[in-house]
Amino acid sequence: MSKANVDVLREETKNWFWASKFGMFIHWGVYAVLGQGEWTRQAHKISQDDYAKLPGQFNPKKFRPDEWAALAKEAGVKYMVFTTKHHDGFCMFDADNTDWKVTKTPYGKDVLREVTDSFEAAGIRVGYYYSIMDWHHDDYLPRLAFEAEERPAEGHDVMDYIKYMREQIHQLLTQYGNAPFVLWYDGGWMNAPEDLGAAETNAMARTWHPGILINDRHHTKEDLVTPEQRIPPTGILDDDGKPALWEACLTLTSHWWGYDKHETVFKTSDYVIRMLVDIVSKGGNLLLNVGPKPDGTIQKEFTSVFKDIGKWMAVYGESIYGTTASPFNQLPFYGRVTVKGNKLYVHVFQWPVDGKLRLPGLHNRALKAWVVGDEATRLKLRRKGADVIVSVPEVAPHPVVSVLCVELDGAPKADTFVIRPDRWGRLMLPALYGMMEGPHGQRIRYESRDGILHVGNWYRAPDCVYWKFEAETAGTYELTIDHSVESGEGGSVLGVIVN
Ligand code: GLC
Repeated sequence: MSKANVDVLREETKNWFWASKFGMFIHWGVYAVLGQGEWTRQAHKISQDDYAKLPGQFNPKKFRPDEWAALAKEAGVKYMVFTTKHHDGFCMFDADNTDWKVTKTPYGKDVLREVTDSFEAAGIRVGYYYSIMDWHHDDYLPRLAFEAEERPAEGHDVMDYIKYMREQIHQLLTQYGNAPFVLWYDGGWMNAPEDLGAAETNAMARTWHPGILINDRHHTKEDLVTPEQRIPPTGILDDDGKPALWEACLTLTSHWWGYDKHETVFKTSDYVIRMLVDIVSKGGNLLLNVGPKPDGTIQKEFTSVFKDIGKWMAVYGESIYGTTASPFNQLPFYGRVTVKGNKLYVHVFQWPVDGKLRLPGLHNRALKAWVVGDEATRLKLRRKGADVIVSVPEVAPHPVVSVLCVELDGAPKADTFVIRPDRWGRLMLPALYGMMEGPHGQRIRYESRDGILHVGNWYRAPDCVYWKFEAETAGTYELTIDHSVESGEGGSVLGVIVN
């Protein structure tokens, strides 16, 4: 196939992916047998020999991939990414070049083929996660710190590991029909990409499976940026300042991706529906993880969330799929906006008590507005200065995220909102206008449990909230913070005043 044709296919995959918005991530491997997450070999210093006992116990009697696919479909999931090989090196497919694989377990079948077939039959495209880091392969270096003596590195050649990886990627990209649409690398941070021949492998991958997307975790510039366990506060732009293709992957648990029988903290359906809207309003996709149990079932804390998302999507899906990022950098209410052509989808998280929603600095003429799911009810529209005011019904149509559609006279254009001092020279920085950011495992978030929006769940030092503002004069300002802290529990912030 010519380079030009490959580029066309790649562009098609990108467009399809961008419009799809919602994926299911599945972390499943022999680590599920122990039920303490996918890093258990490292976290519990399990020797190679002891870990090698796990495949003998892998026999998921209740594994019904069709049921997994049905759950995903019910939720409105458009694609799924499966762990073909995690950091433990164990292959969940019938790899030609190793016996460290699922077809050598009592279960015996090629799990990857089964999940791929089931999801594709449900109309869901499938991508393959592949860990570069490999704690099992003798030629992969470095070793886990605790086994440096037990498994010396001398005499092992990383070139042999590159060959092994390429053979596996070749098999994954050529033996599973249409799948995968994405090569979803992980665990590349231990090695420089040049040392593992990343650029060459990726060039080969593109010829083996024309049109495939590749993520950023081999640390080369490819198609897809993958923030993990956090939502970038203002979306992600590429080097040219254009919206990048990005996908936030998140767990429903507080930490592990693989099954963790000790987990007690789970994200709720309400929280995840708002999270999905938030991500999409910033131009991204959500890849939401499940870690199935060793018996092949998915625990109810996960299935219930997917089902609830499905119920919401069944009514409001048009405001998610195929939309682009919000034209507003800030909104004067707690909610988010997505865009499709001339339509604004206004997602309202907290229903206004005065029955009015203000779309700030909107250049367009608003033609008509309605509640999504109830097209017959027209909402009153009024211009007030630079803003458009939408009159809304008294009661929120949905308790978590209601959606309005506002049709405009053209593609939406809005002013950039800037926080400036008020007439007393004060800068008001309410939680609503705060941008939250935190590295891997970000916990900080908006909360409005008491009806007042605040920044909550703030107990990790690297998590932060920031505001951008313009002040007329440089100088020393006095800072007042309105916050509350429950004894040693972390704090919540309502806002900051700079005077
Ligand atoms: C991390 C973890 C891994 C998980 C992945 C998902 O890099 O090492 O366990 O698979 O994130 O993004």
